[in-house]
Amino acid sequence: MTASEPGLVPTAALSPRVERAWYVVARCADVGRAPVLRALWGTPIVLWRAPDGAVHAVLDRCPHRNVPLHDGKIEPEGLRCRYHGWVFGGDGACRHVPALDGASEAPARRVPRWVAREQQGFVWLWGERDGEPVGSPPSFPEVDDPRYLTVIRPLRTRGSVHAVIENALDVPHTGFLHGGWFRKDGDRKPIRCVVERFDDHVQAEYIGESRPKGFVARLLSPSGGEVRHFDRFRMPSMSEVEYAIGTENHL
Ligand code: FES
Repeated sequence: MTASEPGLVPTAALSPRVERAWYVVARCADVGRAPVLRALWGTPIVLWRAPDGAVHAVLDRCPHRNVPLHDGKIEPEGLRCRYHGWVFGGDGACRHVPALDGASEAPARRVPRWVAREQQGFVWLWGERDGEPVGSPPSFPEVDDPRYLTVIRPLRTRGSVHAVIENALDVPHTGFLHGGWFRKDGDRKPIRCVVERFDDHVQAEYIGESRPKGFVARLLSPSGGEVRHFDRFRMPSMSEVEYAIGTENHL
């Protein structure tokens, strides 16, 4: 979504900013020999992988003439702006100005940077511009568990982060909107829901649902059985859906 589309509010305006947190912005494999453009709350950020393998992230605007840096070139010293050739290190400092005899690292030539970390195949950014992270990015224990299959799939959608998360955790819509795939409208049975709050997440546990009759539910658990189902919202941008149907676990 862009601010220029009539009648639409930019998504950046709909999601509250929680800057002191980690955000996934790319897969590690996405950041290779060319600069990569991403956005966080509508702020353009360029990522690149330095020759030593480290991933860096700075504002996608050259402080000289505002040219997008993702058109630039990766060099041993940093990212070189394509227009007049200034070079920026991963710390945001200007390392080189062509034709300037002397130090190039004046504060006015600095570009804001974000701390980047790679973990379990994802590139994470600490959301605070020029901030220092507190702790490490969240880890997903199932990714390193051989009993689980990990599938990573980028999803493009129009909506605020919170609208997308709310959709993923909204159980009642499945019976009607995806009727027959997992649940069916009309298959009604009272179940219990226990909601618990933790320091960094809230969890809803649904108790007492028998395996739904839908196609996907039959595929996940051909032998039937009882459903154990947890939905979790992890601050500030992650939803987690865990099903255990019969003896099979699915996350
Ligand atoms: Fe980037 Fe001039 S616009 S060096």
